[in-house]
Amino acid sequence: MISLNIEKTLGFISKEKVSAYEAQVKAAQETLENGTGKGNDFLGWLHLPSSISPEHLADLKATAQVLRENCEVVIVAGIGGSYLGARAVIEALSNSFTWLQDKKTAPVIIYAGHNIGEDYLYELTEFLKDKKFGVINISKSGTTTETALAFRLLKKQCEDQRGKEVAKKVIVAVTDAQKGAARITADKEGYKSFIIPDNVGGRFSVLTPVGLLPIAVAGFDIEKLVAGAADMEKACALNVPFAENPAALYAATRNELYKNGKKIEILVNFNPKLHYIGEWWKQLYGESEGKENKGIFPAAVDFSTDLHSMGQWIQEGERTIFETVISVDKVNHKLEVPSDEANLDGLNFLAGKRVDEVNKMAELGTQLAHVDGGVPNMRIVLPELSEYNIGGLFYFFEKACGISGYLLGVNPFNQPGVEAYKKNMFALLNKPGYEEESKAIQARL
Ligand code: PA5
Repeated sequence: MISLNIEKTLGFISKEKVSAYEAQVKAAQETLENGTGKGNDFLGWLHLPSSISPEHLADLKATAQVLRENCEVVIVAGIGGSYLGARAVIEALSNSFTWLQDKKTAPVIIYAGHNIGEDYLYELTEFLKDKKFGVINISKSGTTTETALAFRLLKKQCEDQRGKEVAKKVIVAVTDAQKGAARITADKEGYKSFIIPDNVGGRFSVLTPVGLLPIAVAGFDIEKLVAGAADMEKACALNVPFAENPAALYAATRNELYKNGKKIEILVNFNPKLHYIGEWWKQLYGESEGKENKGIFPAAVDFSTDLHSMGQWIQEGERTIFETVISVDKVNHKLEVPSDEANLDGLNFLAGKRVDEVNKMAELGTQLAHVDGGVPNMRIVLPELSEYNIGGLFYFFEKACGISGYLLGVNPFNQPGVEAYKKNMFALLNKPGYEEESKAIQARL
């Protein structure tokens, strides 16, 4: 199971101050449990892991199998909470190069509907021209422009290329039970569909079919993912003492750091496969806490890569940051540094050492340097990269986010600010129903 270590924040904030959050954290947890706080209609994630039935998982796996058997490529169409969780798991657990090889045992997963890049979509449709492909159309609202636009293109191409009957089999919808264009289309066309529960918001939805279906299509074990989350649900429960509850401790520590002027939290990894865990986490905390002119700014970096770009800023820039490092204890493969007779690169002192040992020393060296440079540092340790541990990590961050948002005094479960750009975009594009906004925005240009 994952663990949290806050020791290297304690030169910057005191243990007593963190412990003093106990009562507040308990109150926040009770508010979540009792459903008496802001956003209480979006608490379906709270006991989701322990309530997922084996029948539901079997249904997801059966649908995944249909896609696996009938597709070389599966497009996951979704944005924000409707794709980041799936991508985080798939990229963390996939071999980095299998998708480039000719012989594959699982469909290649590609993402769309998360941008409005014409070149991206053009290149995607070109790439798919000779491929047997399927689509998972994921949208809770069913009306998100980016996703709807990509799906419109992909649906047409799939039907044209594979025929309507096959398209019906290889297009799956994950959406609201009743509302939205994605639901209407799925029902009209007879697609297999899965429901996103009303009370689970996008960024908390990775353990619903939003995340579970694509992850199963990619060939990963969704039972273990859910089991990891369910064990973490227990480890972060209300009855677990504050000092032993990782979600409580993380929420308290980051809020105390924030109070002490640390306005930016940088999620750090030392494993390139974790890049999208960082992206998922940024959305979770950014959309949950960034409101009412408050909130820690969530940033993410991939080390040691970004030590050669952001490292300077982190070491010596404005001292308003703290780091949370996701550290993976044990890697899955073994590779030793070879010896070289000429030793022109001077690396023979590393000969015979595991590459991961070098990486671990980079991690330790960075931690010490950053702490010396005035950057508080928390560590979340994963024993290894596996479905079970990632499931646990997801739930840990979700629970901590709910607590942390309440400590901050905001509604962690809405995202009113996301509407502002949409309103302007629709006004600029003269969407029917936006006539007044169109006039007003044109006058500003
Ligand atoms: O967290 C959220 O609610 C958002 O990021 C949504 O997931 C995102 O906007 C996609 O919305 P939808 O699933 O309705 O297309």
